[in-house]
Amino acid sequence: MPAPAPPAALRGPALTFTGDPFQDGLERTMVHEPDAIVAMADGHITHFGPAAEVLKTLPTDVAVRRVADHSLIVPGFVDTHVHFPQTPMIAAYGAQLLDWLERYTFPNELKFADKEHARRVARLFLQECLRNGITTSCVYCTVHPQSVDALFEEAEALGLRIAAGKVLMDRNAPEALRDTAQSGYDQSAALIAKWHGRGRLLYAITPRFGGTSSPEQLAAAGALWRAHPGCLMQTHLAETPQEVAWMKELFPDRRDYLDVYDAHGLCGRRAVFGHGIWLDDSELQRLHAADAAIAHCPTSNFFLGSGAFDIARAVRADRPVRVGLGTDIGAGTSFSILATLGEAYKAAQLNRFALSAGHAFYLATRGSARAMDLEDRIGSLAPGHEADLVVLDLRSTPLIAYRMEQARDFAEQLFVQMTLGDDRAVRETWVAGRLAWERTNPSNCP
Ligand code: GUN
Ligand code: ZN
Repeated sequence: MPAPAPPAALRGPALTFTGDPFQDGLERTMVHEPDAIVAMADGHITHFGPAAEVLKTLPTDVAVRRVADHSLIVPGFVDTHVHFPQTPMIAAYGAQLLDWLERYTFPNELKFADKEHARRVARLFLQECLRNGITTSCVYCTVHPQSVDALFEEAEALGLRIAAGKVLMDRNAPEALRDTAQSGYDQSAALIAKWHGRGRLLYAITPRFGGTSSPEQLAAAGALWRAHPGCLMQTHLAETPQEVAWMKELFPDRRDYLDVYDAHGLCGRRAVFGHGIWLDDSELQRLHAADAAIAHCPTSNFFLGSGAFDIARAVRADRPVRVGLGTDIGAGTSFSILATLGEAYKAAQLNRFALSAGHAFYLATRGSARAMDLEDRIGSLAPGHEADLVVLDLRSTPLIAYRMEQARDFAEQLFVQMTLGDDRAVRETWVAGRLAWERTNPSNCP
């Protein structure tokens, strides 16, 4: 683990959220401070607010650095659904979900039996996260426990907050990628003992989905979660109509797809369900009642042709479901959270809803932290929160610079960023109060 970070403070325009704009409106929840100071010490934010206010209480020995012109300080981005082992197979042509798993995903994941391969990919994956301002991720590893060790070891060295878990699969996958209900339980329990709550690391119990886990394995995963309720639980849910139809065949006694998990004790707070595009109203109602979350992964959904998630329906005021944002690499096509927000806008448009930039930036930060039940620790610029933040360059390309000159207000400026921006817009990424990546000098950061 890196040594505690020394005090640091940044001054410049900042954006954060104090609540959920989908429920309480942007006016009451969005804080855009044109001249803010964010001060950090020992990995936490010690001060945040208008510079004129913060300067009154900030110890005089803290050096305040102004960020570059045309910057915006935002909380570190949170990716609620991603497969680090799929980094080498991003952009695999020509298949929809179930074929894509068979043709590309499983052959690729076989290679993670080799821990050194897993480590190399984990390193590249985490660097790519930092380049894109992602400071927390909820990560699927492979069935191999050593793939989890490799990711956690690399994340710990960087001081990142990561939730991750060994994929559980005991059927409909190549023999070498299968565990059993018992071995999957035992291996996951050993990984929990080793990693859960160590520094900033959290364990996520990870049955891949109903297609690759028998009822016995889902029951074992449910028992494991009951024994370790502080862990997260992640799986896939209602991503494509073909998958939903297959679940009906595999689990004929279950009421619906969500009930496949619910009946095995796998629906509750800290459950993060990937996709959830093809859910009916009663399933959304149940997710709401259970306080579970959906990870919305628009680049993946468009890439695999899975569908367009209806976010307005998911957060409906009478039964709002927690929704976070996911890149879903490698079905997802970009590590850029800005690009992912641009696609979330398009998914909403296909459902006749215009997602505002303010709501979108909430989703990428506090909303995703809330989906992981971490909103009291990450996802906001607030004293006491962990000091993960991003300095965005609001003029990162000639076209964006030109377009920004035409923008009439802050909402329009933000919308330009999520529609046209990408990794080039990430000037600095701070992790636990330490500069972890700098666009102008990436090799100089530890
Ligand atoms: N469903 C089950 N496994 C996967 C996966 O690896 N990626 C996606 N997008 N969906 C899945
Ligand atoms: Zn996924």
